[in-house]
Amino acid sequence: MNSSTTPLSPIIIALDVDTSAEAVDWVQRLGKQADIFKVGLQLFIKEGMSVVEAIIAQGKRVFVDLKLHDIPNTVHHATLNLMRPGVEFITLHAGGGVDMMEAAVEAAAENRAKSPTVTAKLLGVTVLTSLDEDDLREIGINHSVSGQVMNLARLAVEAGVDGLVTSPKEVRLLRQEHREKVVLVTPGIRPAGGDTHDQKRVMTPAEAILEGSNYLVMGRSLLDSPAPEKTLEEILASLRR
Ligand code: C5P
Repeated sequence: MNSSTTPLSPIIIALDVDTSAEAVDWVQRLGKQADIFKVGLQLFIKEGMSVVEAIIAQGKRVFVDLKLHDIPNTVHHATLNLMRPGVEFITLHAGGGVDMMEAAVEAAAENRAKSPTVTAKLLGVTVLTSLDEDDLREIGINHSVSGQVMNLARLAVEAGVDGLVTSPKEVRLLRQEHREKVVLVTPGIRPAGGDTHDQKRVMTPAEAILEGSNYLVMGRSLLDSPAPEKTLEEILASLRR
């Protein structure tokens, strides 16, 4: 198996499906070209930690994308319960505030101290890639999207998170400000000319990597393509050029 520092591929597959059976099927189909698979709310609500365990049992690592956002005590205990060997990333909303993020960071440190095989990194979610400036204004935030991303990123870094989830459009600015201190994980990735679905701030895989992204999260544009294995191979080839 690959060590956690040398991923087979920078592409993280978003398993936005309903059942463990479908998820494991995708892991088997795409596992030669990807080693981190993302379990989000859709699948987690149906299958819980058993699907996370099932993916780990396939020799893969899991990104548990529950975007925690609650009082610090709840987020602390949720983080304690989520971390285990094989879980690579856990997300929390940076909008939950510094105290909430620090509570998660403390939980992560506690777990890592107990077991060296527990290595999950915490990622602060800045502004969802489905939101644009009009959406922000509607919810009372009078900043530009990039201004709000930079504010939230500063708070997340101050709280001690390991990385950030952000649209590829903000990666260059984040890299400039935070250098190599943070892992940058970007959804909102679409092959050139592909359907953008509900995502509003998108880039192609090669563009996002050039901007400084470490990992690209890809869901519908890959899983709904006519030949997902071939699409993934083409994307990986485009990153090698
Ligand atoms: O299908 P698509 O490639 O748009 O999937 C993107 C995935 O990334 C989804 O699982 C979504 O929940 C997640 N995500 C996102 N924007 C964020 C954080 C996570 O789109 N800011």
